[in-house]
Amino acid sequence: MSSLVYVLNGPNLNMLGVREPAIYGTETLADLRARTEAAATRHGLTVDFRQSNIEGEIVNWVQEARGKAHGIIINAGAYTHTSVAILDALQAVGLPVVEVHLSNIFRRDEFRQHSYVSLAATGVICGLGAKGYELAIEAMANILNTSTNKA
Ligand code: DQA
Repeated sequence: MSSLVYVLNGPNLNMLGVREPAIYGTETLADLRARTEAAATRHGLTVDFRQSNIEGEIVNWVQEARGKAHGIIINAGAYTHTSVAILDALQAVGLPVVEVHLSNIFRRDEFRQHSYVSLAATGVICGLGAKGYELAIEAMANILNTSTNKA
């Protein structure tokens, strides 16, 4: 049976395609989802791909992942830089986490250069656009193959 990975997207990522294309590219969230699902198939994973603008909903999904999923890929959007609640949830569930960002958060505004999510993440992929989601899948497949930390 293939491992299930939750791919969680935070606020304003539903606006991809329209939102600041010079920074985030022209692909929509549906395009990202298709890429991620195709990559998951190639790497023997199943994904549950979601987006929410609501911090508490993301916290609920992280909690829900415990016992259901084997790992979490998360682009928490702006909550990356503000949310102790999402960090606490990620640390509470103890699943492997790969953090992803479309843009390179380290060459942007100073407030984007700190990530609470990173404190719970095995690794971070940023600045590679939509391709980063495929790389996150590959990284998660590696982690799950070598990790004893399986649900
Ligand atoms: C983002 C970077 C964040 O700083 C920003 O708030 C987002 C998107 C990215 O994917 O590059 O919403 O996470």
